[in-house]
Amino acid sequence: MTRSLLDVRSIARVYDMHHGMFAKAAGVRAVDDVSLLLERGDTLGIVGESGSGKSTTGRVVLGLEPPSAGEVLFDGRPMPRHGSPEWRKARMRMQMIYQDPFGALDRRMPVAAQVREPLDIHAIGTPADRDARVGELLQAVGLSASVTKRFPHELSGGQRQRVVLARALITRPDLLVCDEPVSALDVSIQAQVVNLLSDLQADLGIAMVFISHDLRVVRQVSRRIAVMYLGRIVEEGDADDLFVRPEHPYTRALVSAAPMPGRRMADRDMLQGEPPNPAHRPSGCSFHPRCPVALARCRTEMPALADLGGNRLVACHLATGANSIDVASPSGSAAARTMEGAAR
Ligand SMILES: Nc1ncnc2c1ncn2[C@@H]1O[C@H](COP(=O)(O)OP(=O)(O)OP(=O)(O)O)[C@@H](O)[C@H]1O
Ligand SMILES: [Mg+2]
Repeated sequence: MTRSLLDVRSIARVYDMHHGMFAKAAGVRAVDDVSLLLERGDTLGIVGESGSGKSTTGRVVLGLEPPSAGEVLFDGRPMPRHGSPEWRKARMRMQMIYQDPFGALDRRMPVAAQVREPLDIHAIGTPADRDARVGELLQAVGLSASVTKRFPHELSGGQRQRVVLARALITRPDLLVCDEPVSALDVSIQAQVVNLLSDLQADLGIAMVFISHDLRVVRQVSRRIAVMYLGRIVEEGDADDLFVRPEHPYTRALVSAAPMPGRRMADRDMLQGEPPNPAHRPSGCSFHPRCPVALARCRTEMPALADLGGNRLVACHLATGANSIDVASPSGSAAARTMEGAAR
């Protein structure tokens, strides 16, 4: 049996709260019992509202933070301790791209030197090889040679994110973790950068974890999608199938809320109620206070993430595998309207 590139096994991440208003709180469970598998060259999207634990999952996956429980295997081996020589070696094969390209770049260094720096640090290739590779990468991300001597503040947001991408790809990583990589960019630039990411991922055969609160963007680049709510995966499935047949009421609401051509604003179902706060986790199913179809059981019993067949995992007492939501319908789906009605 070949081993997966990434094998995340029931990880949790608990933040201790010692001071201020959380003096008595035992800890905030930002991520709880999350398992993920990613094969070489494959793409996994993680979607969910703010505070659902997406970024924390990304940081634990890369070993930037230790899990409070569970473990992460990268290429079949446990992730080494943060900062150790083994971790640095493993990290070269994993790169992260964040929302803010400015923050990821050194303001005092010209573009070419920044893209080249990982090769200098790890003493990869001759100086001539390194320069050639910088040229290749800048071209691959669609930057002209004229930017090489410029500084980050002299570039646009989109150009800066392309520089970050070139720098991330220069060590030929096996895994790219992108955390809201286009959220800070102008809407007009977002699609270009998403397309570029997607093309490079496919051309170079890099595995990618793509984190975003925007289900539409996630769908564009992911073969598979995991939906997170309050630190847990509530649904996971093949991207297109999940979009057409969301099973979990939370996924249904996210799909219904996503802007789609032909669907009017009034027909979209916006999520009602409080956004997730892991410091105040509801009993039973965490989604039950906002769920339009919750039963008494949902208030007391947490549903397990169950395999419904068809590559779909769902954590909902009501999931049957028979749900279908017609998102293409311009007047909105029956299920979405039911949810909207119930939330009023
Ligand atoms: N270092 C930390 N200390 C304490 N709590 C934290 C820390 N990092 C994250 N949290 C809490 O953990 C929860 C999950 O945060 P996380 O940043 O992973 O969510 P997210 O899904 O990435 O949200 P967003 O879409 O806003 O980026 C939040 O409630 C957050 O306040
Ligand atoms: Mg985040």
